[in-house]
Amino acid sequence: MTQVILLDAALPQQQAIDVAASVIRDGGLVAFPTETVYGLGADAMDEKAIRKLFRAKGRPPDNPLIVHISGRDMVDSVATGVSSQGERLIERFWPGPLTLVLNRQPEVAASVSAGLPSVAVRMPANKIALALIGSARTPIAAPSANASGRPSPTTAADVLEDLGGRIDLILDGGATSIGIESTVLDLTTEPPMILRPGAITLEMLIEIIGRVDQATSGEELRRSPGTRHRHYSPRARVFLIDHGSPESIELICRERLDEGAVGFIGHTRVAIDDDQFFVIEVGSSADDYARAIYGALRELDRKGTRAIVVEGISEDGKGAAVMDRLRRAASEIIE
Ligand code: TXA
Ligand code: MG
Repeated sequence: MTQVILLDAALPQQQAIDVAASVIRDGGLVAFPTETVYGLGADAMDEKAIRKLFRAKGRPPDNPLIVHISGRDMVDSVATGVSSQGERLIERFWPGPLTLVLNRQPEVAASVSAGLPSVAVRMPANKIALALIGSARTPIAAPSANASGRPSPTTAADVLEDLGGRIDLILDGGATSIGIESTVLDLTTEPPMILRPGAITLEMLIEIIGRVDQATSGEELRRSPGTRHRHYSPRARVFLIDHGSPESIELICRERLDEGAVGFIGHTRVAIDDDQFFVIEVGSSADDYARAIYGALRELDRKGTRAIVVEGISEDGKGAAVMDRLRRAASEIIE
């Protein structure tokens, strides 16, 4: 049985937090909100709990986890030798959606890092997450709280849909504010390299530490094992439209309707009079897309769509992170 506790996101009840923290300390699994997506947490120092976490998600064991901490002093219990660049980034962006790949402390459960000598660390900007880690008095390893391969969860209901019955507890703090996962920056290489784009953009990182590289797909495969696996995918086939006029978008949707129900996610108005056609309209900014995209993919899955057509956005700023997720979800990209 999975218990769900509803919390006030601005002022989470300490008693409920303490219950969740004791589940973590006892080697259990607790899903909790962060500012990006919901995470599925377990004690990062407890090998047995971490193995249980991999099983609950159905996650391949070669895909390492992010360790979540609640204060700067906690970094030293999971990582060694933070560089001056690392210190500047921590000072500027924590708590927040930036994960740093650092040299791993041997006390961290080995399977957290999937055998790598490094460990990914972040301090989330969410009161419930910070209170939970603080009360558990241990770093919490937490991948996104979806079943492996599914879109990341942005609400407690999404977590329940994927992991209900497989985990002990869900802390429900409402919908997450950013909606896509953190930026992952590898600080064990020179220059540092972005392994996964997110809300902290390349430009923002360059402003603080100078040169930063962006992993090409080959590098990424080698350095970030997670990106080898299929990701962020609903059950329906996703068609990503890179550039399209309203007429061409409508045509693409109409063609897919021959094969079954079709969903459209985008900021352009597409009106097709067909009870098998579902539209989720999203604001055209990268922030709007980030917040809405995973929930929209899940919703269209629940409606039984066979195909989901998604209108792309500009790659500027946070748009790069949104388009990265959309490309991974897509089985076809229409230029
Ligand atoms: O926003 C987020 O980062 C969310 C919330 C819950 O914090 N978490 C999240 O975790 O997205 P997950 O497990 O879904 O993604 C972790 C990513 C994977 O791409 C993984 O390969 C990479 O981080 N990663 C973890 N440890 C790594 C390491 N030591 N070296 C390179 N990449 C690592
Ligand atoms: Mg994930």
